[in-house]
Amino acid sequence: MCGIIGLTAIENYLREPIGSIIRRCLKRLEYRGYDSVGYAYIDKQKLKIVVKKAKGKIDDVTRILDFKNAYSNIAIGHTRWATHGKPSNENAHPHTDCSESIAVVHNGIIQNYMELKGKLVRKGHVFKSETDTEVIPHLLEEYVKSGMKPIDALRETLKILKGAFAFAAIFTQERNKIFFAKMTSPLVLGISNKVKFLASDIPAFLEFTNRVIILRDGEFGYISPQEVYIESIDRGAINVRNRIRVISWTPQMAMKGGYPHFMLKEIHEQPLAMQRTLQSLNIKEILEAVDLIINSNKIFITACGTSYHAGLVADYALSSLLGLPSFTFIASEYLKYFKAFGDGDVGIIISQSGETIDSLIALRKMKEKGVKTIAISNVIDSAIPREADVAIYTRAGPEIGVAATKTFTTQIITLLKIILQAAKQLGEDVEKIESELNKTPKISGRVIRAHEAKCREIGRRLSDAKSAFYLSRGIGVPLSMEGALKLKEIAYIHAEAYPAGESKHGPIALVEPNFPVVFSMLLDEYRESLIGNIMEMKAREAYTVGLIPRNERQVIEHLDTYISLPNINPLIAPVIYVIPMQLIAYYAAVSRGYDPDKPRNLAKTVTVE
Ligand code: F6R
Repeated sequence: MCGIIGLTAIENYLREPIGSIIRRCLKRLEYRGYDSVGYAYIDKQKLKIVVKKAKGKIDDVTRILDFKNAYSNIAIGHTRWATHGKPSNENAHPHTDCSESIAVVHNGIIQNYMELKGKLVRKGHVFKSETDTEVIPHLLEEYVKSGMKPIDALRETLKILKGAFAFAAIFTQERNKIFFAKMTSPLVLGISNKVKFLASDIPAFLEFTNRVIILRDGEFGYISPQEVYIESIDRGAINVRNRIRVISWTPQMAMKGGYPHFMLKEIHEQPLAMQRTLQSLNIKEILEAVDLIINSNKIFITACGTSYHAGLVADYALSSLLGLPSFTFIASEYLKYFKAFGDGDVGIIISQSGETIDSLIALRKMKEKGVKTIAISNVIDSAIPREADVAIYTRAGPEIGVAATKTFTTQIITLLKIILQAAKQLGEDVEKIESELNKTPKISGRVIRAHEAKCREIGRRLSDAKSAFYLSRGIGVPLSMEGALKLKEIAYIHAEAYPAGESKHGPIALVEPNFPVVFSMLLDEYRESLIGNIMEMKAREAYTVGLIPRNERQVIEHLDTYISLPNINPLIAPVIYVIPMQLIAYYAAVSRGYDPDKPRNLAKTVTVE
């Protein structure tokens, strides 16, 4: 949470004010946090650091921050998601040392900051904010004052800091270098001939370069216009050349491309993203995963949020298709199964970003107990796939909207590909399902074209509601959980998902005239009982919305409105049915005047426990 950026270019190379570039980069990181913004650059004439920062979103504080008049060849920037200290001008980053000759931007948490701050204050350091970050420039200052060079001061500072963090620092005494360190929170370098970048995520600098180095835990160093220096706490200096990777993402992928919001663009991108996933899945990796799964004692699946819902879909497919039950849990709740983890088990960790700290911790806990791990992620070389025994990438392209959309559908496709391959190896005939799965890019495209207008209408209708239910049965339950999460997180409408049969055991008490209930009806054995549940809701004058299979006539009379979807195998249905749910939530948010790309209090990658 929080996005950091830094760039250093050779003198007179930049054709525009560095502030304008920093602003653009920060806009692309805004999904990580948006309660305050700031940047710092070295004014080469006056040989001093200039800091500009303010509470608010980038667009709201652009005038105050005066990006257009910031000229330099070196700058760092930050967009904040508050952890320590409320959103305010003082708590916004960058933070400086006492003499204002060091400025720092930081993402993550310094766990032992209270203790460190106490010591520094006793030595006479003056703190201006309530943040944990501010200890970093003061610690660096202490070491520099004792005669150390910035790189040595950085090394010593790292020995003291505890927590999960990534930060960047500039020093007036090293006018072309940006120093950095990474421990758990993500940090990547962008490499081009005359300018170097560092950022929390690749899209920030993609317009300049697609040559990247993904930093690993315990690495620190500096970038200058013509040099990259990386050292590891444990392994000393690193050979930088071996670490450069060229990524296939294009700058356009990280732009809105004419859509009003990233979320809408990413919903529309799903057919393409699914196609990419299907085409690029690596059979060798799939086979390795399958081998682990079919030879395992127990299967554990873990993730957070939307990825957890994808995990529940996989859980359902594993048991219903293969009779292989799995234990699926929310990553932060790993303690429940900790004693059960053991040699011969397999763990599947699903994370779009590959950096979610709860999922990373769950993975480490499994590994500690000898569990073999399979990571499903969208971000190459991020922490979770890097630490897992087998890494499988969804390759959905960058997802900038905070609400997960294309990454959910591509995660399910990836998981189903693995499960279907396992089924084949266990002698099941899954040819028909597989051929339907391969058609999801086409089917999803048709669904978007045919139903977007209706979804807009339903979204508008739901925008007046205070609360809603999402009901289904079987594999439709995790699908409903995902639909409810989307409505909750971007439209701020309370929404709950329940197995439809369970609604009678309590939740139905909330239903009064016009209470919205969204039903997902799949082509499965639950059809009759689900119709019964719809009738129960209708009898209480609920506003019933149905996502139903095409040619399903009997249920229509009990629905106030419906979207009729292609007849597909229920195991694959979540990939298609979730699309109208995403669109409904999107249009409900827009009708209520909210920005779906930046839901309040949320950040795209959650790197704090
Ligand atoms: C919801 C959403 C979050 C993420 C969750 C896990 O729309 O985006 O619930 O799914 O924070 O993130 P990853 O998949 O990056 O581990």
